[in-house]
Amino acid sequence: MNIDSTNALLKVPTGALQIPEFPPADVGINQRDIYLSLVIPTYKERGNIANVVKILSQILDEFIPGDYELIVVDDDSPDMTWELAQSLTQEYPQLQVMRRQEERGLSSAVIRGWQAARGKILGVIDGDLQHPPEVLTQLLTAITNGADLAVASRHVDGGGVSSWSVVRRFLSRGAQVLGLMLLPGVLGRVSDPMSGYFMVHRESVAGATLNPVGYKILLEVIGRGNVKSIAEVGYVFCERKEGESKVTWKQYVDYIHHLVRLRVSTGKIGRVRRKINFPLDRFLRFALVGLSGVFVDMTMLYLLSDPATLALPLTRSKIIAGEIAILNNFLWNDAWTFADVSMRQQEWHQRLKRFLKFNMVCLAGLVLNVLVLNLVFNYLIPNRYIANLIAIAIATIWNFWVNLKLSWRVTDVK
Ligand code: GDD
Ligand code: MN
Repeated sequence: MNIDSTNALLKVPTGALQIPEFPPADVGINQRDIYLSLVIPTYKERGNIANVVKILSQILDEFIPGDYELIVVDDDSPDMTWELAQSLTQEYPQLQVMRRQEERGLSSAVIRGWQAARGKILGVIDGDLQHPPEVLTQLLTAITNGADLAVASRHVDGGGVSSWSVVRRFLSRGAQVLGLMLLPGVLGRVSDPMSGYFMVHRESVAGATLNPVGYKILLEVIGRGNVKSIAEVGYVFCERKEGESKVTWKQYVDYIHHLVRLRVSTGKIGRVRRKINFPLDRFLRFALVGLSGVFVDMTMLYLLSDPATLALPLTRSKIIAGEIAILNNFLWNDAWTFADVSMRQQEWHQRLKRFLKFNMVCLAGLVLNVLVLNLVFNYLIPNRYIANLIAIAIATIWNFWVNLKLSWRVTDVK
């Protein structure tokens, strides 16, 4: 393949997922600012990409000749979509290709594409022709008429889905209703918040740090951007002719994760959180790990002390069960809750040190647990279960906070 300066691959931006206010200086074939940058995220779209590029170019060459660029962002597809796309740049000089080898995922692909974009308007369209290309001109017109954001929607006049099963319609609508309940201020602003076909003014998203979780980048744009006016254009979601969808059950889990993250980081809750600066995500993971420890503890206690099993003395069993639960929690916390920290300190003696610290903190937490239980039960609420819940909550927060500051502290001072 002939790679010279005009058809080299686009450099993959790194660092925070933030759209710059102005196009980066070192991108592109020529430095002139352009009107539209349309990102086409692809993963295994070899059978579609040539057609997509051809049809989009035809439409845009007529509508805004010379004033657009197409940016294919491919996640190193095993079918070499990126290579095929790259070979098309000879014929389509307005086409650029980014091959990502480090990162994965639809949302971050779109954001990385926009980071490298030169356009005043940033757009996205699927690379499988399920989004009808003709709608592009209507989206552009809506933007030119003053909208900050123009969304192609399946749920307004002229919109729809071609031949979806009842189950798929139900899941799609269910996801939307769930989102509406959690984030009415975001999902309530458009009729099709799941749309992956839209355009937005650069200035409406510039500066915001976007979140790479999930499939639904539009939620980020509305939730974290500064979008005042929105226009919608109806479209029919076509059937796929080539390749296959990448949606699996994981996208549904991601979607819920995404909603929760947006919920706790935007609006009123987000403002309060920023003020007190509590690492809520981390705490939730820590609490979940703690819950898993309860099950480990219970199971071990049963295996060791139950008359039907080993029938060891209760105290001895409990000490062993408790220690195994602590080990369980440590391993999960090290690999998940504090993964970002432990990744930087992987040597076995560093791990051991963390484990010993964690052990000490948890033992102190146990003492605290017993103390609080007694205090609350004797002086505040004479109900042992409510008192115990309060004691557990306080001990969990203690465990979390001290471990955060002590066991998984970043200590890369030389
Ligand atoms: N770079 C990259 N990385 N691209 C990806 C990835 C990824 O991990 N996963 C999917 N894509 C690309 C696909 O190649 C395709 O071009 C586009 O993203 C959409 O993926 P599909 O797997 O075809 O999704 P879909 O058709 O089920 O869902 C689409 O339909 C929604 C309507 O409900 C999504 O595109 C939504 O954005 C769209 O609104
Ligand atoms: Mn698709």
